[in-house]
Amino acid sequence: MSKLARAARAETAEAVPFFEKCYRYEDPARVRATGFYSFFRVIESAQDPEVTLHGRRLVMLGSNNYLGLTNDPRVKEAAIDAIRKYGSGCAGSRFLNGTLDLHVRLENRLAEFMRQEAAVTFSTGFQVNLGAISCLVGKGDTVYLDKQDHACIIDGARLSFGDVRKFKHNDAADLRRQLRNDHESRGRLVVVDGVFSMEGDVAPLPEIVAVAREFAAGVMVDDAHGIGVMGPTGRGTAEHFGLERDVDLIMGTFSKSMASVGGFIAGNARVIEYIKHRARTLIFSAAPPPASAAAALATVDIMEREPERRQRLWDNTRYFLAGLRELGFDTGETRSPVVPIVVGEDLTALRMVKRLEEEGVFVNCVLSPATPPGRALIRTSLMATHARAHLDRALEGFEKVGREVGLLRAVEV
Ligand SMILES: Cc1ncc(COP(=O)(O)O)c(C=O)c1O
Repeated sequence: MSKLARAARAETAEAVPFFEKCYRYEDPARVRATGFYSFFRVIESAQDPEVTLHGRRLVMLGSNNYLGLTNDPRVKEAAIDAIRKYGSGCAGSRFLNGTLDLHVRLENRLAEFMRQEAAVTFSTGFQVNLGAISCLVGKGDTVYLDKQDHACIIDGARLSFGDVRKFKHNDAADLRRQLRNDHESRGRLVVVDGVFSMEGDVAPLPEIVAVAREFAAGVMVDDAHGIGVMGPTGRGTAEHFGLERDVDLIMGTFSKSMASVGGFIAGNARVIEYIKHRARTLIFSAAPPPASAAAALATVDIMEREPERRQRLWDNTRYFLAGLRELGFDTGETRSPVVPIVVGEDLTALRMVKRLEEEGVFVNCVLSPATPPGRALIRTSLMATHARAHLDRALEGFEKVGREVGLLRAVEV
């Protein structure tokens, strides 16, 4: 029977019962029926402060391009040069045939930039956490996660042979309570996001590190949203707190400030050596393509040489956040260029995202399970390259739409 014929039969739920759940899955259709479906939107331009959607220009407030480097001519040139020299792919894993001198240069540069002994790069940030956590946490070990840790930290812990415990969000006292009650584990690792990706709040690293040390636990920080953003020189959340020597491992991704795709983990040379030879997402997956590695490498130099970018990013963040708060929006506990607008009801958040799109502003809708149920958000994020005019346009849109949906009081006439 042809694949098509089989699919037609399966839709009548006669054949292959395994797929029944797919045919019964109606969530996206239900949202589409409201007219507010805003996922997988198709962008026709680069991730600049303005993007083109269905031929219209929108202010982009939904990108992780914090330093505005994804369309930077120097970064693009580096990627093009790498394609010219090395071709379009590595045709294999880092472990066997896929390691280029370019990867080694990038790793040495990242180790130096992060002020760590060594670093290893993976093809995505997601793969870093899956591979590193699952190979480090063995049978008899316990990994402690913040309840709001990113999905790939949770999945990495799940893939490990150790126990997984979760502590209350940003609550070092709860972590301490759990570690105190843990008498059996052979080894303990605490993993937190430096900057939490949905609400932009920051892990209380000084308290977490102190508690971890008390119980001889290792500390790993996922700084996907902190690299290039946090700290006096953009080296991330550990630098922000003056704790670069106190955390054991820092992971980062190239998909945000570093204008590319891929990820890395940096720390003690012996630990990195272990990860390099044990992380299955590194060994059994193709190497980061030359263009991606070269683009990421170019951004390290720019992050170092152009601190004014970070300055502009923070100026924009303060301006936009102050504007939203003045209008009366609840912006949670953010301490970073990720600025949430707490909405509550899923449908209201979906409606706002659609209406903001109509008003010329691109923002993202964040629903459960990415946030706790009943805490639907609009996630915005700033770029160094936003101009004040972009932010003013966005604030106007937010004011109008906020009143329409009743999040802000209606204007009295
Ligand atoms: C906190 C955090 N960690 C890891 C990742 C995964 O990074 P990547 O996009 O490079 O796979 C993300 C990206 O969404 C993230 O927000």
